[in-house]
Amino acid sequence: MKTYRIACIPGDGIGKEVVPAGQEVLEALAQSGSGFRFEFTSFGWGGDWYRAHGKMMPDDGLDALRGMDAILFGSAGDPHIPDHVTLWGLRLKICQGFDQYANVRPTRILPGIDAPLKRCGPKDLDWVIVRENSEGEYAGVGGRAHQGHPIEVATDVSMMTRAGVERIMRFAFKLAQSRPRKQLTVVTKSNAQRHAMVMWDEIALAVSQEFPDVKWDKELVDACTARMVNRPASLDTLVATNLHADILSDLAAALAGSLGIAPTGNIDPERRYPSMFEPIHGSAFDIMGQGLANPVGTFWSCVMLLEHLGEQEAARRLMQAVEEVTADPKLHTRDLGGSAKTAEVTAAVRHRLLNR
Ligand code: IPM
Ligand code: MG
Repeated sequence: MKTYRIACIPGDGIGKEVVPAGQEVLEALAQSGSGFRFEFTSFGWGGDWYRAHGKMMPDDGLDALRGMDAILFGSAGDPHIPDHVTLWGLRLKICQGFDQYANVRPTRILPGIDAPLKRCGPKDLDWVIVRENSEGEYAGVGGRAHQGHPIEVATDVSMMTRAGVERIMRFAFKLAQSRPRKQLTVVTKSNAQRHAMVMWDEIALAVSQEFPDVKWDKELVDACTARMVNRPASLDTLVATNLHADILSDLAAALAGSLGIAPTGNIDPERRYPSMFEPIHGSAFDIMGQGLANPVGTFWSCVMLLEHLGEQEAARRLMQAVEEVTADPKLHTRDLGGSAKTAEVTAAVRHRLLNR
């Protein structure tokens, strides 16, 4: 029987609750006759590791992950460690180390979820945001000089390469082409940022020639926020820079009802390295350790993980079980206005997978 080797990195905060929940539902899928099994290996990296070892993960940590089929990640963030240290020391180290250049963020209003937009039915909001995940504003280029003096200077340089923009555009056009509406919106800011974003637009136009069946348009990022609220049905697949997509995807998640539901995949489309799947909600220290976390973002991330492994039928079964559970308000966690605990939601999804 096919065995998939999955690395689990719970990280910090509620990551330690939702990743084990994800493992439980994946285990239930495997047990219910899917024709494959999982071998999970957990890595205790993150804030606690930092306190013990002075770094978020071991120097040779990537080597331990290299042979895995996929990575399930929880969150990185600790109230006692600066955010840029936790981010660069763990999550970005993996994303950039494994060149997971496409970050994919689907958003839909799941059954039973009360979403904030009036006049917007569930069918009007069905988006996938493709986030450039390897350069741009997150390239790490910049520096500080004259530190602590009145003339101190600091820069964060957004760096875009032709190769980097071309590959993310090609990925986004291909993804748009695979969806029923075959429609892509290229998010830009080339009115104000007159170098890299102009190149971004030019490359979008060039790559679009390879995809004559994909309808595409360009939208300025600020106008895009208004369009997401006012005309959600006019959007389908979007591609945006690292930072623009970071911001748009939080808006998307909130418009779909809760940050607790939203999934993401950090993908290496060339499959040279394992890809990494995670809920987008972060470590949520205010509710950690209380069993209140919504595991649905992790379950949906597991659906993306299964799709990446080519297990389409198992992915469909898991998504269906998740949607049946969200449809029942008694199984809503606190972020959705309910009082269900992480364990109850997990048990309900497991039950549907095992008894069918
Ligand atoms: C996300 C998150 C991260 C990001 C944070 C935790 C640094 O917000 O995945 O969207 O900005 O990349
Ligand atoms: Mg974000």
